[in-house]
Amino acid sequence: MEIAIVVAADQNNGIGNENQLLCHLPNDLKYFKRVTSGHAILMGRKTYDSIGKPLPNRSNLVLSQNIKFIEGCEVFTEIKLALSYAEEKGFTHLFIIGGDSIYKQALPLCNTVYLTRIHHSFKADAFFVELPEKDWKLDASEYFEQDEKNAHSHTFEVWHRR
Ligand SMILES: NC(=O)c1ccc[n+]([C@@H]2O[C@H](COP(=O)([O-])OP(=O)(O)OC[C@H]3O[C@@H](n4cnc5c(N)ncnc54)[C@H](OP(=O)(O)O)[C@@H]3O)[C@@H](O)[C@H]2O)c1
Repeated sequence: MEIAIVVAADQNNGIGNENQLLCHLPNDLKYFKRVTSGHAILMGRKTYDSIGKPLPNRSNLVLSQNIKFIEGCEVFTEIKLALSYAEEKGFTHLFIIGGDSIYKQALPLCNTVYLTRIHHSFKADAFFVELPEKDWKLDASEYFEQDEKNAHSHTFEVWHRR
């Protein structure tokens, strides 16, 4: 099973503020949907709270040490239990979709990072890590200008572990 991170970060690696995303970028939401649909997604309980419902056409796995049951989701107390579940269910891909704490714990398990770089600086209290050049290689990059629907220019980057 391929384990990959999907994250949108600003130019300071900010990813969220007060448990909300930094901005609304419809082009990135479409990309996120395209990448993750049909697969398993794993998120922390706070990210689940900020989304507020299971995402359709995906198996929603949530990590929590306190909450035991969330309608439409599978809840796990440890990352490795979530990974075993996704393996057993036959998923070919598991996408780690945040937040801050889950990205940090899961990065060592990932070989691919889908990073949307938002070319702007926001006020943030949650951050993604810098991918060190010696360990990670940028394999694809697609730039989008800001437009009437997307307030900030952004780049879809795909990084692979060297
Ligand atoms: N830009 C992006 O792409 C993106 C994507 C997702 C999220 N975000 C942002 O990230 C921020 C949230 O990040 P966060 O770090 O505060 O919260 P989080 O990672 O979403 O959730 C943290 C919670 O997950 C549970 N948890 C964490 N590690 C665990 C483990 N090993 N085993 C079991 N449960 C575990 C705990 O839940 P319990 O307290 O219930 O035990 C913990 O309080 C928000 O601002 C959000 O908007 C940004």
